Amino acid sequence: MKGTVHIFAIFLSLFCFGLCSWSRNQITFTNGGYNNVLIAINKDIPENQQLVDTIKEIFTSASEKLLNATNKRAYWRSISILVPKSWQHKPEYEAVTSESFDRANVVIDFENPRWGDNPYTKQLGGCGEPGEYIHLTPNYILEKSMSEYIWGPMDKLLLHEWGHLRWGLFDEYTTSDPGSAPFYATSSNTVEATRCSLAITGQYVNIFTLRDCYLDPDTGIYQPECVFFPDVNGQTTKASIMYGQFIDSVYTYCHSDSSDPLGYHNVEAPHKHNIMCSSKSSWDVMLESDDFKNNANPPIEGKVDTKPIFRIIQARERRVVLVLDTSDSMRGERLEKLLQSATQYLRYTIDEGSYVGIVEFNIAAYVVSELVYISDNNTSREVLVAALPVDTERETCIGCGILDGIEVLSRNGDDPAGGYLLVISDGKNTQPPGIKNVIDEVNNAGVIIDTIAFTNKADTELTTLSEETGGIAFFFAGDSDISVLNNAFTATVTTRPDVSTQSLPITLYSDSLKVPVGANISDSVFIDSTVGLETVFTFSWIGTLIQLWLESPDGNFVDQNQYIVDKDTNIITIKINDTAMTGYWVFTVANVNKKSPSQVATVTVTSKQSSKEDPIEVLALVSDPSINYSTEPVVAIYAIVTKGYLPVINAQVFAVVQSPDAIEEVPLFDNGAEPDITEDDGVYSGYYLGFSNNGRYSVAIKVNNSAQMAMVNMAKVTGSLPIKPESTNDDLPVFEPTGMFVRITSGGVIQVENYVDNPKDNLAPSRILDLSVVKTSYSEQSVVLQWTAVGDDFNKGTATKYELMAASNYSKLFYDFANSRLVTNDDLILGNMSIISPAGTRETVTIRVPTRGEDATYFFAIRAHDESDNYGEVSNIVSANMEYIPPIPAENQDPEKRIALWATLGTLGIAIFAGIIFAFFRSSKQKKNKLNKVEHSDNVNNRMDNI
Ligand SMILES: *[C@@H]1O[C@H](CO)[C@@H](O)[C@H](O)[C@H]1NC(C)=O
Repeated sequence: MKGTVHIFAIFLSLFCFGLCSWSRNQITFTNGGYNNVLIAINKDIPENQQLVDTIKEIFTSASEKLLNATNKRAYWRSISILVPKSWQHKPEYEAVTSESFDRANVVIDFENPRWGDNPYTKQLGGCGEPGEYIHLTPNYILEKSMSEYIWGPMDKLLLHEWGHLRWGLFDEYTTSDPGSAPFYATSSNTVEATRCSLAITGQYVNIFTLRDCYLDPDTGIYQPECVFFPDVNGQTTKASIMYGQFIDSVYTYCHSDSSDPLGYHNVEAPHKHNIMCSSKSSWDVMLESDDFKNNANPPIEGKVDTKPIFRIIQARERRVVLVLDTSDSMRGERLEKLLQSATQYLRYTIDEGSYVGIVEFNIAAYVVSELVYISDNNTSREVLVAALPVDTERETCIGCGILDGIEVLSRNGDDPAGGYLLVISDGKNTQPPGIKNVIDEVNNAGVIIDTIAFTNKADTELTTLSEETGGIAFFFAGDSDISVLNNAFTATVTTRPDVSTQSLPITLYSDSLKVPVGANISDSVFIDSTVGLETVFTFSWIGTLIQLWLESPDGNFVDQNQYIVDKDTNIITIKINDTAMTGYWVFTVANVNKKSPSQVATVTVTSKQSSKEDPIEVLALVSDPSINYSTEPVVAIYAIVTKGYLPVINAQVFAVVQSPDAIEEVPLFDNGAEPDITEDDGVYSGYYLGFSNNGRYSVAIKVNNSAQMAMVNMAKVTGSLPIKPESTNDDLPVFEPTGMFVRITSGGVIQVENYVDNPKDNLAPSRILDLSVVKTSYSEQSVVLQWTAVGDDFNKGTATKYELMAASNYSKLFYDFANSRLVTNDDLILGNMSIISPAGTRETVTIRVPTRGEDATYFFAIRAHDESDNYGEVSNIVSANMEYIPPIPAENQDPEKRIALWATLGTLGIAIFAGIIFAFFRSSKQKKNKLNKVEHSDNVNNRMDNI
């Protein structure tokens, strides 16, 4: 089974590559130059030339620094800056093509309240997987001198963020991630600050007393008040940018060449990079990326002009052409369902200020409607609804439809670039040109193509077409529940909010009710206080007219006169005037026609933001929309639940995956266990492993707070500065209950090929990422370890066995895990290694170690096995210092004052405070690292030998 395990270990590190970000703007890399980097300014940021000038300035200087940092292998060659459409047009502004804010690599946006003006990079994937975007605030850019005082030179800061974004590197300073710690016990029996490289010198300071640090007898490392401040002067280290880009001498990333200690990677330090990348150096991770692997892009010889070429492009209004299949196979119910969804889209989803056109295709293509401006009254919407095609014709020419769609976007000499086509088809191309034949025209036109595969018979090239053009691919099985189709239509608009000037509808409910003859079926939807404006209930069905009632939270029924009954398309709509009352709205659908069999009514409830307060929103992503089952029988699904930029945590989040044969609900978690990489950041993640056939699987994300546990996480994050001690974990986190809410959105399609019906269990448990030492005790000669249980297959189910290994030095465990010392029940004071909890459960054991004293440091790592003896990768490695440590004198320890201090300082304060400390220690001479070493060594009980 080892062979299998190995294969899966490999794909796991690769399968998200370029895919978590598959709909992002693609940066190309040729001859050492990055082309087509997209920086986008949020639509609500007021016009400011200084902002654009400074962006150019810092990227120009960073480009030179990047060349230096990468040993002459990379710089930025071309960069586009997207400015909002509200800015005064200038002749030098080019027209936008496929660039948009939601696809940008670098966003310039108002602050994320958790981060303030602190620059950060959003990462969803694991080691080596590209991040989503870098977020810089206008304040950060415009207040240059202040920003540089806090975070160091802007150009080097960009290299730090680029490391996250491009190569999937992680921070090499301590963060609040489980398993990360500010200090650690080393293989040479010392205690060091977490950093890279270890050659970085600095001072260990009690931030409360401004005096020396003491070791903490409860942890074996420095007390929580202790902070390591790297020296600002006299530093000669060259790395690492991922640790302290603000240190003058630091200009590059840590590497694994031990002959050069000034840039040598510190494998033992417990920081997120070592945890996620199994202690691989940044350079080694970079060398495995597509940018440099197999010696691609070798060092550039001679002089390089690193000045990037900047283009300024200006955003435009949304322009969409619906490209609808009206071939014979669509005749009857299929076309009826398509028209129902299209009608709802035109009436309630597409936002004011957009332009919409319609093309139909069968044996050829026909323009049904040129672009129509969506105005603030309903006339334009009804003009489009009336134009929707109702007849079918033989043959299917998808290419014809696409070409006509481009033509509609090109009328009167307009540039089609940046326009959207929404192509919907239920069949394969039977009449040339097909999709492949028009791909050049599509690329030349610069249009983005969303596709909805209508039934499993639809052309498989639709998904590829979306992937290649930066569009989104969806799948509707064609069954009686059209909510999936409605969600797809809606997601084409709502996943691109930045193109809108208006707030967009948020879907609260989208489902179908199956109503037997003569019966009534009721359900309800909760309308929360952040939404409630322009609330619309729509009910659609096939067949005879249904009856329905809608009851508001105060128990009153909505007057039937307010129902808008559209007998042509079989839709009943109820619009709530003013702001809909907060609470449960109950709807009842009755199937009154005695002759008709059971009827299916699809119900959608949408509403808009009702106040200045940001509404809760959800965005869905799948790691890869095209699965080759033989190499990659799994997909990761992500749901990002936010209120503005703030994460919403502790919500119930499910991915509903509809396969060709069944529907499966997969719970998604924000717990930092694979595939989730950060706890409590509002990104909920999970694997879907239930593939049962080739074909398409549609994904919907449902979010609710029925457990009443959801909260907005406003706890501040301090990134970019390695000064955050463990103690700030509790720096007054602010959590605000959200109250009840429900949301639903489409996550698009997953298309599976090369399915093999293989009952053999070949999926290993996930890697444990959060092993940590929570306590050490000299008197008991014990170590308390904790970790989160993983599952039988990745993070699903329950593993069968743990291998918890110990060693007396790091290398032994790292290079020879299997032959290290197995921790057995005989070694435990508390806990039981034979009892394995289900995935997601916290596991705790207390180990009695064989020796204690000055020279006793123990290292631990763990992996889980399943019943077929597949095993996960080895966890992060942790260490425990077992020397005798005297109690900390009371005057050097005051948790209450410490917490108060951190709370009043905040991020900015901490930074300024750090500046004071730098100054304070500037003249002080080098101190010994280990300040409180006490000779006190003996052996209590030697049960664990051979370590
Ligand atoms: C550990 O758990 C196993 C399985 O439940 C049990 O058989 C064994 O007695 C336990 N060992 C100890 C030391 O408690």
